[in-house]
Amino acid sequence: MGPMSRTPLAALAIAAGLTLLAPPAYADSFTPGSAGLGDPYFPHAGNGGYDVAHYDLSLRFNPKTDLLKATATISATATKNLSRFNLDLSGLTVRKIAVNGKPAKFHRKGQELTVIPAKGLPQGEKFTVRVAYDGKPEPVNDPELGVTGWIHTKDGATVVSEPDGARTWFPANDTPKDKATFSFTVSVPVGLTVLANGEPKNVGIVPVRNGWTSSKWEMREPMAPYLAMIAIGKFKVSESVASGVTNITAYDPALAKQSQHLHKTTAKATEWGIKHFGPYPFSSTGGIADKLGVGYALETQGRPVYDGDTSDDLLVVHEIAHQWFGNSVGLRSWRDIWLNEGFATYAEWLYEETHNGPTAQQTFARLYKSKGDFWQLKTGNPGRNGMFDWEAVYERGAMTLHALRKKIGDETFFELLPAWAEKYRHATATTGNFIDLAEEMSGQDLDAFFKAWLYTAKKPKL
Ligand code: TRP
Ligand code: ZN
Repeated sequence: MGPMSRTPLAALAIAAGLTLLAPPAYADSFTPGSAGLGDPYFPHAGNGGYDVAHYDLSLRFNPKTDLLKATATISATATKNLSRFNLDLSGLTVRKIAVNGKPAKFHRKGQELTVIPAKGLPQGEKFTVRVAYDGKPEPVNDPELGVTGWIHTKDGATVVSEPDGARTWFPANDTPKDKATFSFTVSVPVGLTVLANGEPKNVGIVPVRNGWTSSKWEMREPMAPYLAMIAIGKFKVSESVASGVTNITAYDPALAKQSQHLHKTTAKATEWGIKHFGPYPFSSTGGIADKLGVGYALETQGRPVYDGDTSDDLLVVHEIAHQWFGNSVGLRSWRDIWLNEGFATYAEWLYEETHNGPTAQQTFARLYKSKGDFWQLKTGNPGRNGMFDWEAVYERGAMTLHALRKKIGDETFFELLPAWAEKYRHATATTGNFIDLAEEMSGQDLDAFFKAWLYTAKKPKL
């Protein structure tokens, strides 16, 4: 949200024939940033009044004690005159906070960490906030959306934070709307391996001191906090180049049987994605297979996390497709989650269609016969607890795209997918943006079509 406009008062002053000698009083007033951004599904997630550019996370984790000791340095710009602002953080103990190098007061309530800088932060100015914290990170256990955040594993920890688990391991502006670049410095006991999003910075020069080693990783493209990931443990790592994109995968040696093909499948899925959706949006691809016990995979940016078995090629295709749809083209509101899941699921149908499997039309026709509950939720607004509803969001989301393909024709449809990826690359978008682009490219009025497919809890007519 933009700051309050000055125009009305200034206009009034001019109209009244006054000269503004000093800036009006309200220009000096610094007010708190909001504690949430009013997302209809997660009203407390994210915070108002600033925009994060970079998170520099320095973490030290000992799997023997489960203790995390960390410093997060966040570079941001104030988007209004701020007297204080919030970050999202759950559990853990905050030891010290500094804003622009000066000690700041803070207090905590639920997931809100309120930072009160010694001096107000003027609108438009950059600032840094450094938070020193430690403790045993605990995952979020949501009865409807499952276990997310910092997941302790047998030999370390791996992070999967969709939709709001980032706050379990670092202070964040935990909203998909505020993307930022990330750097990670992770210290672990010698013998363990660290992976994260992006690329390693100190390959081959991992320093060892007093039984600890430290790895640096960097994600240079903007990333939503829920897509940030580190993995600590015993891993077998592979690295190569696929279609010019560095591919770094890793699996827990205990998963050798189920996941040794992850590296090849990831390369194949990335190359296939480039052909259908356009240039790969990040500097590297990859994947991590670990024993998490959460029961789902997550498309963590550039390097999805898989819970155990990765022998299903379609699962890898799904997570790699999210790199274009969900990660590079991000969400502005969780309500539009079908833009992530419907697209990634339709990528699976297209992959099958181009690899001697059933055609997308066959899959569509099979699902179109579904009765009862299938049509009960609205794909374009499934409700907070229905966000990951397999039928409403994944399947009906993919069906919406297939129905659109039939309506606007293959030629336009297969131009629309890369055009969508290109237009909102490294940004965020809404369902409305997608409808607008589809209308523009097809020259058709698609309002009634999308209303039936996305916003009506009823089987659409063909
Ligand atoms: N976005 C993940 C995928 O489809 C799935 C996912 C993330 C999920 N969090 C979840 C599924 C919680 C169920 C519950 O790749
Ligand atoms: Zn998905």
